[in-house]
Amino acid sequence: MMSAKVMLLGDIGVGKSSLARRFVFNRFDSDYKTTIGVDVLTHDVALGSDAGNATLRFVLWDTDGDFGARIFETVYLAGASAAIVVADATRPATLVKMSGLVAKFEERFPARPVSAIVNKMDLAPDFRLTDEAASQAGVLYASAKTGQGVEEMFLSLGRAIWRRTTNIV
Ligand code: GTP
Ligand code: MG
Repeated sequence: MMSAKVMLLGDIGVGKSSLARRFVFNRFDSDYKTTIGVDVLTHDVALGSDAGNATLRFVLWDTDGDFGARIFETVYLAGASAAIVVADATRPATLVKMSGLVAKFEERFPARPVSAIVNKMDLAPDFRLTDEAASQAGVLYASAKTGQGVEEMFLSLGRAIWRRTTNIV
């Protein structure tokens, strides 16, 4: 089976662990237990006929938001196939950090898939980024609480990883 190391990056408390939990266990927990260092979770997903009916093993590296940009100075990034960079729709400062982390990931790993996700859309349903650069980067909107956008986001990232690995672009 194809497997891919996928980094979950983004500021403290934006919902990285909650998105991983929604994706892997289809659950949501409103208690906040901050990640210490990194948690690794795996989840196998059928990518569908758009991806040759392949199954991809996501190896999710759910990082501690406290690292900030210093995550790029750690060994955690080694061998990453892709990244999901998360922001919180209710906290503008996290959007700025998201853009910075996307840029850093693209610089370190040119051409590897990276998804920018604005989470907690249940708290700010009408929120949309106005920044043109951000919209060009293909920002997605999600809620780990309701599940909105979560499965779709992981599936489309999985298909991008599959296309890149099989050289079908
Ligand atoms: P660190 O590990 O500290 O970097 O945080 P994190 O990014 O992993 O955030 P976490 O998933 O722990 O979520 C932080 C808080 O936000 C928790 O209380 C979650 O229940 C809450 N939360 C996460 N996602 C959502 C969401 O989509 N909607 C709402 N309403 N709350 C959310
Ligand atoms: Mg966490």
